[in-house]
Amino acid sequence: MTKTLRILVLAGDGIGLEVTAEAVKTLQDLAEITGHTFQFDQAPIGGVAIRVHGAPLPPQTLEKALASDAVLLGAVGGNEFNSLPPDRRPEAGLLQLRNALGGFANLRPAFAWPGLAGNSPLRPEVVEGVDILFVRELLGGLYFGQPRAWDKEANAAWNTMRYTRDEVVRVAKVAFELAQKRRKKVTSVDKANVLEVSQLWRATVTEVAEQYPDVKLEHQYVDAMAMHLMNTPRDFDVVLTENLFGDILSDEAAVITGSLGMLPSATVGGKVNLYEPVHGSAPDIAGKGVANPLGAILTAAMLLRHSAGLQEEADAVEAAVRRVLDQGYRTMDLTRGAVSAKVLPTQDMGKRVREALIARSAPAEYEPSRH
Ligand code: IPM
Ligand code: MN
Repeated sequence: MTKTLRILVLAGDGIGLEVTAEAVKTLQDLAEITGHTFQFDQAPIGGVAIRVHGAPLPPQTLEKALASDAVLLGAVGGNEFNSLPPDRRPEAGLLQLRNALGGFANLRPAFAWPGLAGNSPLRPEVVEGVDILFVRELLGGLYFGQPRAWDKEANAAWNTMRYTRDEVVRVAKVAFELAQKRRKKVTSVDKANVLEVSQLWRATVTEVAEQYPDVKLEHQYVDAMAMHLMNTPRDFDVVLTENLFGDILSDEAAVITGSLGMLPSATVGGKVNLYEPVHGSAPDIAGKGVANPLGAILTAAMLLRHSAGLQEEADAVEAAVRRVLDQGYRTMDLTRGAVSAKVLPTQDMGKRVREALIARSAPAEYEPSRH
């Protein structure tokens, strides 16, 4: 049975435009091959929305997002906004959107693609076979906790790391359920030796774990976790974190995959799922056509899997990415250690993936765990 999906594309700033264009073209070709219908609309968010509408999340953008089946976002942010307070920056638009859509579980797979091991500064024998799924809580913690302020007179500023039990329960359940379909291990990250909020986190996760006796639970302090992630990344399956810890550790995990440009993400559990690559707007290379579109394309695969239930189609997109990497094609960010790399600009990389998709690289060849 063919499906119809209304996808709102929020390209945002910097390389967001370039990489989402390739993700959209991938979905369009897939629609052609499979007979599914993907209807695309677009709207401004972030810096471009501030410039045109004076707000990082214009009401029309939010309205369109809430009326869509899935939102595909590029990136937000730009150097010209660096001196603005947090609530007026492009990033505020993304945080408002996340809050309004309500997705609290941000899934960030960090997968060591065969062939890219030489691209990581870590030794290949450390990196090979790594397959981690970060489940980052996305609507609580320091990002949203009240009170928050910068009191200029007092020369003091504060943010609040706050979690309720219910907020921890719902994200922990997502982590355990995903672990059941993978290697059945959850590593919960906290700072329970110092923070009360982490003690609540740890106690709650331990309680939720009782409902999943087939899944092994371990706890790690976030500082130790930062180290273990580099030393023994293969030890980890599902890694459950609060908002800021997950933000930091998922960038660290990019070292394993060779480039931040490879990492996709999906935010689930709310009214409308939100899909965004982990990387930012990369102002230094924006507009040059050299950004890596694979993170965005893999994000589109997550959209197929989590918003459309199109498992085989998602596998096919991932298989196409794998094939192109196996053929030796690289974007600029993926050239470390690969002496004879065939370096492609953004659009050519996207085209290679679509060619591989059309050539129907057999999904059976691709067997990492389900992201
Ligand atoms: C991310 C980004 C965002 C975050 C910013 C742009 C608000 O760094 O998605 O990891 O901190 O969540
Ligand atoms: Mn981040």
